[in-house]
Amino acid sequence: QPFEADSGEVSMNGYEHYMLKEIYEQPDALRNAMRGRLNDQDATAVFGGLNLTPQQLRSVERIILTGCGTSWHSALVGEYMIEELSRIPVTVEYASELRYRNPPIENNTLVFGITQSGETADTLAALNETKRKGHRTLAICNVVGSSIAQASDGGVYLHAGPEIGVASTKAFTSQCCVLAMLALYFGRMRHMSFETGGRIIEDLRRLPATIEQALTCDAEVRKVAEKYQSASNVLYLGRRYNFPTALEGALKLKEISYIHAEGYPAAEMKHGPIALVDADTPSIFIMPRGTTYDKVLSNMEEVKARGGPVIAIASSDDTEIRKIADDVIMIPEAPEFLQPIVSVIPLQLLSYHIAVLRGCDVDKPRNLAKSVTVE
Ligand code: G6P
Repeated sequence: QPFEADSGEVSMNGYEHYMLKEIYEQPDALRNAMRGRLNDQDATAVFGGLNLTPQQLRSVERIILTGCGTSWHSALVGEYMIEELSRIPVTVEYASELRYRNPPIENNTLVFGITQSGETADTLAALNETKRKGHRTLAICNVVGSSIAQASDGGVYLHAGPEIGVASTKAFTSQCCVLAMLALYFGRMRHMSFETGGRIIEDLRRLPATIEQALTCDAEVRKVAEKYQSASNVLYLGRRYNFPTALEGALKLKEISYIHAEGYPAAEMKHGPIALVDADTPSIFIMPRGTTYDKVLSNMEEVKARGGPVIAIASSDDTEIRKIADDVIMIPEAPEFLQPIVSVIPLQLLSYHIAVLRGCDVDKPRNLAKSVTVE
């Protein structure tokens, strides 16, 4: 039987649903994920539980990130972060595929299982399989003492507190935050300068306040939810760091509102999804300022030209975007590698409000379990 999280002990704290409470807990969850893990003196991150020597960590030549569902999405974010900041090649695998696919894995590969519950059967099996082959396995996990935490050689706890809502929110942003700290850590072991490490620490420290600011978009998001609550299909489009966010936004909508949604890299739109565009199919563009902003903007214009409603998740100083997009949700500035943690906030809130407006059971959506302990 799928494992059910026990919500009996955890207070709703005045919120109508656990999911909403957990969305609002994210600034604190991020503070907890970072507590004691940022070291200014060496401009790096510190982790107490990796159980590997600096020599063993220095010899890592490839990292595999594996998980399921939302945790697989944070693995994708982690791939971008680790490759950019530490230049270690990263492969992301669905745990359910990794356990049976039998891919060749080189020596000096480090495997991270990413999981909120620490009980997901496929993630546990994937870690056991790679461990059996002699690779070092670590867990990025929320639940202390869980099966995956115990089965791995070591790891990093999220310290996000209990997550009861079936749709994962604060675990996702905490996982991304831990992955950013790991990227800093591995980067500083290799080529990354003291100055760059220090700047990344500053960026990370600013993050909880940025998320607090991002949460103020709630009223605006609710208006957008009212407008699009009856949609049957929604496209989520983003590029680079905001591509995994597009996948996560689409998953959130599917999970709790039962609306069909697809996340795509914005530039792939022209290879298929654009055929879906019509007046009843909104497209959500996750497009804070950054490297690919102009390209995503032209994708948005293409959708508009075909009569599709467009919603932009954009930087707060982007006044021009209002002239093109039908609806705009502003998010505060953040460096590109941290943008997914910020831009997912309005997407979590959007799925929440649409689900409430449609009368769905937000915390216990049909057919889903908080943790899937069966294959
Ligand atoms: C289930 C949950 C998802 C979660 C996934 C992985 O499908 O409904 O919210 O992302 O399992 O769970 P884990 O606990 O391993 O992160």
